Amino acid sequence: MSIRIRLLLSYFAMLMVPLVLLTIAIVVISVTVVGDLRSVFTLDTQNKNPIAAILGEESDIAKDIRLRVDSNPDSLRDQKLLQEYSDRLKRINMGLVVRVNDKVDFTSPSLQGTNVAIDLPPFGVEQSPDRFEKVFSEMWVLDRQYDVTFTDGSKGSYYMLLDLDFLGGSAGKFFKMFIVTLLVILVVTNGILTYFVSRKIIRPLHALKRAAGEIKQGNLSYQVKAESRDEIGELAIAFEEMRIKLKDSVDMQLQFEDNRKDLISNISHDLKTPVAAIKGYVEGIMDGVANSPEMLDRYVKTIHSKTIQMDHLIDELFLFSKLDLKRLPFHFEEVDLDAFLQDCTEELQMDVEKRGVKLDYEAPKLPDSAVIIADREKLKRVLVNIIENAVKYMDKEDGRIWMDLRDEGDFYRIVVKDNGQGIAADALPFIFDRFYRADPSRNVDTGGSGLGLAIAQHIVEEHGGIITAGSEQGVGTVIMISIKKRVDRGLME
Ligand SMILES: Nc1ncnc2c1ncn2[C@@H]1O[C@H](COP(=O)(O)OP(=O)(O)OP(=O)(O)O)[C@@H](O)[C@H]1O
Ligand SMILES: [Mg+2]
Repeated sequence: MSIRIRLLLSYFAMLMVPLVLLTIAIVVISVTVVGDLRSVFTLDTQNKNPIAAILGEESDIAKDIRLRVDSNPDSLRDQKLLQEYSDRLKRINMGLVVRVNDKVDFTSPSLQGTNVAIDLPPFGVEQSPDRFEKVFSEMWVLDRQYDVTFTDGSKGSYYMLLDLDFLGGSAGKFFKMFIVTLLVILVVTNGILTYFVSRKIIRPLHALKRAAGEIKQGNLSYQVKAESRDEIGELAIAFEEMRIKLKDSVDMQLQFEDNRKDLISNISHDLKTPVAAIKGYVEGIMDGVANSPEMLDRYVKTIHSKTIQMDHLIDELFLFSKLDLKRLPFHFEEVDLDAFLQDCTEELQMDVEKRGVKLDYEAPKLPDSAVIIADREKLKRVLVNIIENAVKYMDKEDGRIWMDLRDEGDFYRIVVKDNGQGIAADALPFIFDRFYRADPSRNVDTGGSGLGLAIAQHIVEEHGGIITAGSEQGVGTVIMISIKKRVDRGLME
């Protein structure tokens, strides 16, 4: 799920969850604070509005007491009757106080323990036409006062009082609980949602930060795993790709550095040997060691051959470095492989045979002409290097080199086989490496610099082909070059 959708859902939940919880809370609080809800809103069952019902009941009770007192004032002294009135008044949150001769004679239980009775107006004080005029402490208001003269002449009054604290108190309590519940719901919902959303964002960000720190320290092997499929997961994947690229490029740089060191050491070694020989012979001449014309001639010939060796080495190095840097231009053209191989064979045959090896090319039995796209000069260089090796590493009296061309579906394959000394199995995988020579002593007389096959591989790869080798020690070696057939334009369209 994307972070955008997650945030949207979280905001929606942040609105909805408190709303739902709050509704439930209001119902629960209402029931706990005021008991049954219906008791709050329906005092009377006759579908009257609650205020009218309270006022109606109040005036009924007032009328009732009034009638009774008017017909028999002494009934105000009947505690049982007063308790009945008090009970009726209690149902509408009212209370009753009766005073006889300035002495409180009856107080509703709900008024007991308050100072309300003491503060009530004395007998004979004119009642204001406005009811609820006097508010006492603890939220009691005076509703009605009636003065009575008893049969024994004593004077008394009864008072009907309304308790405002009930509604006010409940509302206050309700309000407080409502606020507290609202706060708790908001804090808890917010907390939970923030925790879950941020956990999905902050945790992977921390992992990324840690990985960036590791990379900064140079630890390029520190992996980052994408834990989610959202934007941060994509970021982690991109980060991991970047790390792999960086690691590859650093590895490659290190490899280049190693190669450069190898190259310098190999070049120094391979150049040092002929230079040392030339130096030795020149010193011999200078010191008069070559004191006969024959010896001088031998010395000069040796110096000449060493110079040729160096020249060849420098040429190979130059060619290899240009190929390696991809600075050697290729001139690709259509080449008929059969004709090409025939030409090469004719050109090389004489030189090879002079060195005691027989070179044969077997013309293929292909239905069509074998055309590829190639650079003639470079491809010839490949064949020369391979045949040169076959001759150089020949150890048989009857040295033979066989060359043939095969059709391999999308490819043509040039095969060069010899019956020379072969290559040891443990050396075979490395013969295309630069400077690699199966002879570890790097004997200059039996081999060159180890660049011949590396150059061949470079050139074949520039043609989009592959070069492979197979060999059996003592039996011979086979080198195979596969190059893609030319794609027929007519067929492509
Ligand atoms: N036909 C072969 N028979 C036996 N060994 C071979 C043959 N071709 C290659 N090798 C082995 O593979 C190694 C690498 O060959 P490569 O042509 O690259 O170098 P090189 O011949 O030693 O030197 P260079 O070709 O630069 O003069 C050789 O040193 C040799 O040991
Ligand atoms: Mg060679």
